[in-house]
Amino acid sequence: MLVLGIESTCDETSAAIVRSGKTILSHIIASQAHIHEEFGGVVPELASRHHSNDIFCVLDTCIREAKISLHDIDLIAVAKGPGLIGSLLVGIQTAKALAWSLKKPLIGVNHVEAHLYASIMGLENPAPFFPALGMILSGGHSTLVLIEAIGKYTLIGQTVDDALGEAFDKVAKMLNLGYPGGPIVEKLALEGNPKKYPFRAGRVKGKQYSFSFSGLKTAVLYTINSINELNGPTINDICASFQHAAFRDLSSKLQLACKEFQPKALFLGGGVTQNKTLRNILQKEISIPLFWPEAELCLDNAAMIAGLGFHTWQKNFLNECFTLEPCTRLEI
Ligand code: KG4
Ligand code: ZN
Repeated sequence: MLVLGIESTCDETSAAIVRSGKTILSHIIASQAHIHEEFGGVVPELASRHHSNDIFCVLDTCIREAKISLHDIDLIAVAKGPGLIGSLLVGIQTAKALAWSLKKPLIGVNHVEAHLYASIMGLENPAPFFPALGMILSGGHSTLVLIEAIGKYTLIGQTVDDALGEAFDKVAKMLNLGYPGGPIVEKLALEGNPKKYPFRAGRVKGKQYSFSFSGLKTAVLYTINSINELNGPTINDICASFQHAAFRDLSSKLQLACKEFQPKALFLGGGVTQNKTLRNILQKEISIPLFWPEAELCLDNAAMIAGLGFHTWQKNFLNECFTLEPCTRLEI
């Protein structure tokens, strides 16, 4: 079954052709990061305009690289949310128009769930690893779930304020490091002392698996304000200490969840999972098998949408060509 996936929730315009939820035939991602960089974050109006400009070229290249014709597609899957309304509309309206004109079924896919599927996608048969823990760490989500099967999740914890990727972006903005913040903070942290500043992530009373990163971010701000002149080594130390505090928090909560739920594996997804320091820490400290997305599947991408779309379609074969609406807020 050939699925065309379309992703446009935030600032990446992407299309992919994926066979039966697994094999990627082609995958195109047009990132707008350079457009939003000067503003230190995504400007929604600019994002939707650039999606409109880029989407046809992205689709055209994707179809040509897969060496198929549009008529060979069996299903169109589009990210229905969560995301920015203008950005979502571009992907969804394009997908609807294509589905209608080609007389192909269309389904909407949850972008957060797709981030998790990105690390399941590489496995021939994931079933023996369920029940598993799933953790999504992106610019909009920090979420911990128990996975019973693809599409069957129990929410265990989520952030009560900032998502972890958002905290990385805000810390980078405070230090004038550019956007997106994650990769640059990770790079500078490698040169810094993670124990220089005693930062800590927040605890949420009565909810041992919930996350809170806004206090950590504010502690970084106060530290920056207390320093007369920020120099390279100090910035490195701040990045390293911030990252260390955030990752200690993730690791300790995951270890606790492993004890309580006895999962057979941990699947991770979302932009922050690109971070190599995080991968090294969890690889050392979590004793069950860990599955990470391939590099091209960590950030926003359409291959994970097409991949999960295949499974979502198998559940009820519900064509949403005339009913699908964008959902700016959506949980897993
Ligand atoms: O999953 P994603 O592409 O978009 C959302 O759905 O939000 O994640 C983007 C987020 C940004 O906040 C970015 O700063 C963060 O992922 N990120 C990282 C790294 N690469 C991207 N955070 C930490 N370390 C990284 N290497
Ligand atoms: Zn995302």
